[in-house]
Amino acid sequence: MLDVIAIGEVLIDFTPAGRSAGGNEQFECNPGGAPANVAAALSRLGSRTAMISKVGEDQFGSLLHRTLLSSGVDVSDVSFTNEANTTLAFVHLDDQGDRSFSFFRKPGADTFLHSKDVPLGRIETCKALHFGSLSMTHEPARTATRTAVLKAKEAGVLLSFDPNIRFALWESKEEARQNIYWCMNYADILKVSEEELSFITGTSDVEKGSLELQQQFEIALIVVTLAEKGCYYRVAGQDGYVPGFKVKAIDTTGAGDAFLGCLLHKVLENESSLHDLTSQQMSSMLTFANAGAALVTTRKGALGSMPTTDEINQMIEFESNKQFNADRFRPGLHFSPPSNWANDPNGLVYYEGSYHLFYQHHPFGSKWAPMHWGHAVSQDLVHWEHAPIALFPDEHGAIFSGCCVVDWNNSSGLFEDSHGLIAIFTHADIHPETRQPRQRQSLAYSSDKGQIWHKYDGNPVLAEDDLIDFRDPKVFWHPQSERWVMVIVAGDHARFYASTNLREWSLTGEFGKGEGSHEGVWECPDLFELPVDDTGNSKWVLIISIGDHPDCPEGSRTQYFIGEFDGNTFINDNPADHILWQDYGRDNYAGVTWSDIPEQDGRRVIIGWMSNWKYANETPTGSWRGAMTLPRVLSLTSEDESVVLTQMPVREIQQLRKGSVNWKEVTVTPETPFIKKMNEDLLEIEADIDIRSGEEVHIGLKSSGLSEIVIGYDPVQQWLFIDRSKSGVTDFHPSFACKHGAKMVAKNGKIKLQIWLDRNAVEVYANNGLVALTDQIFPDAPIEKVEVSTQSGQVVLDSLQIHTLKSIHIPDGVLEQK
Ligand code: FRU
Repeated sequence: MLDVIAIGEVLIDFTPAGRSAGGNEQFECNPGGAPANVAAALSRLGSRTAMISKVGEDQFGSLLHRTLLSSGVDVSDVSFTNEANTTLAFVHLDDQGDRSFSFFRKPGADTFLHSKDVPLGRIETCKALHFGSLSMTHEPARTATRTAVLKAKEAGVLLSFDPNIRFALWESKEEARQNIYWCMNYADILKVSEEELSFITGTSDVEKGSLELQQQFEIALIVVTLAEKGCYYRVAGQDGYVPGFKVKAIDTTGAGDAFLGCLLHKVLENESSLHDLTSQQMSSMLTFANAGAALVTTRKGALGSMPTTDEINQMIEFESNKQFNADRFRPGLHFSPPSNWANDPNGLVYYEGSYHLFYQHHPFGSKWAPMHWGHAVSQDLVHWEHAPIALFPDEHGAIFSGCCVVDWNNSSGLFEDSHGLIAIFTHADIHPETRQPRQRQSLAYSSDKGQIWHKYDGNPVLAEDDLIDFRDPKVFWHPQSERWVMVIVAGDHARFYASTNLREWSLTGEFGKGEGSHEGVWECPDLFELPVDDTGNSKWVLIISIGDHPDCPEGSRTQYFIGEFDGNTFINDNPADHILWQDYGRDNYAGVTWSDIPEQDGRRVIIGWMSNWKYANETPTGSWRGAMTLPRVLSLTSEDESVVLTQMPVREIQQLRKGSVNWKEVTVTPETPFIKKMNEDLLEIEADIDIRSGEEVHIGLKSSGLSEIVIGYDPVQQWLFIDRSKSGVTDFHPSFACKHGAKMVAKNGKIKLQIWLDRNAVEVYANNGLVALTDQIFPDAPIEKVEVSTQSGQVVLDSLQIHTLKSIHIPDGVLEQK
């Protein structure tokens, strides 16, 4: 029994083939004709097919006959006529491989197909009849085609229709439309291009147009092909888009026919009714069809160039590997942008039940370029929902870093007696006269919880003409002086401004020249007060990030100062040369804290950009670049009589634990390392280690490939470190493969390590957050082994816990396609 019979034109496509030595255009003779191509595509995939058509008693007719036969198509019903020559079509290809046609069919042999040529018995017993509209342009082929269609309908044979409109072959557009309508009354499967859909329905909206057709003609499956973008389908109760494959097309002839051949092959293979297909089945069939269509465009001609199942499957596998590779470092615990570039967190604010995270974003590329504010919203600081871009560059320039506040009392006057969000950010452009970079501060406001933003008419609100670096304002309400305070950086120092309305600002003080580290330009300040332990005392913390400097292997990083803020300026508690680093890893920069976290909660939560300007534009992350650290709670504690910052991930992160294993009192020696086998890329590890023996201890996170991340402690040097020199992909920048760490004193001969491992990063917290190390890593495979070992003597693991973690994306491990 035949699977598919195709009825309609077979013809020769003459495709351009360069110029002769004499400079004349040459054409290559390619057997074709849409229904014939579909039949050839199907038989190439293994379906049993036959063709019903007519060719001329000429060389071209014989060629078509032979080619169909050698493509595996049954030609018993392809007959010869001397009433006309074989139909010819000259194809003209433009630079993209797109076609236009000149037809030689006045008349052509294919139009002489008679009803008596139609093998009704074979049609009755096949599984599907495929037809187009071109065999309807002239009699007697029109009646012959109708006869075949009516027979198939009567016998319950599946009918597949591709209008394949060529207006040049019709008397009029109206005639074409009427005949296409006739066909659609019988079609179970309809394949149309976007242009065809808009001609038939009058709308270029594929969703609307296909719905109209489905309702009017009760077509079970409608597919709209969208060239390299893929296709859109509508079937009983569901519809959707299935992405296509990008290839270098050299001839798009036959792409639609290959598509339809592949689709029909899959539909028949599946055997379930079109009405019962799930969206997964649809998407896998149409992916197959998209790949088949893409492949045929990489070759000249159609009928003889149809792809095989192996070729199509290979292409799908190759593309899905590419996709996997593009997203294999997509973090499962950390925030990352939906696509493209992200740097600093901005505008962190808690408002009416949601945490907002804005961030420096370039939505059109994966390197730093004109900055926008991306936006995401969370209820728990762990799961983030991407929101539309909040701020776009405008006539004042790109949108650099800044903050958000809740203007509870409408002190700005922008909210008509209510409250709302105000973003205070840096507008960055070029000074029209000096051609130097210019950075000025501006406002935007939102009355609908951050969805729609309006730039303030009076922007910019703060400009200092003599400053080139003048950016990243952080604003907070200072109750003692009953005014807003802005801390902002100006190259080598921080400045403080005050305002009662957020629109007019006056300078109140400066801090920082000669204080702390100046190894890079000062950026992204923050200023807040925190209690010191539970002494009842409090101190002010001034956070300052410092940019990359070519002479500094550390690249960009963040320092902080402890002191007082008197409402006008900051006073450092420590000597000017005393430097405090927030994080001793290489990838925690531009961190700032959330404003307006309610008092009952009382936490001061910081998040940083988990990258480093040294190599941020080069990291091998594929379709996106730049993630955030875990959000961390900041606290102050007294250590050796001075006050220092501690940090730990927010407790909400614990909800990601999915399985835990514990060990107690494990003695580790070089001969008997502790080894736990697993296959995980999201982990939390907690280790209490007794290092009184003075031995260096390593926690190695080893993948099935060659990558290994080592977190170690050397009790002699009192040094906690990460070694990422063999951590997987490291060769994108010479500074990336390195070992680095921090001075850390053990407490009573013990250290406590808490480690979060993600697909793109590791975060290490020691002694309850007294020391933090945050590093990007790009392992070649998930972690297969956690190994605790020593260099020579023994150490004791007082306790060790390993938690496997769920991804913040759903379903686990699979990226949501946005
Ligand atoms: C810090 C920074 C900021 C600036 C922003 C530009 O990483 O350089 O100072 O506002 O990035 O994207």
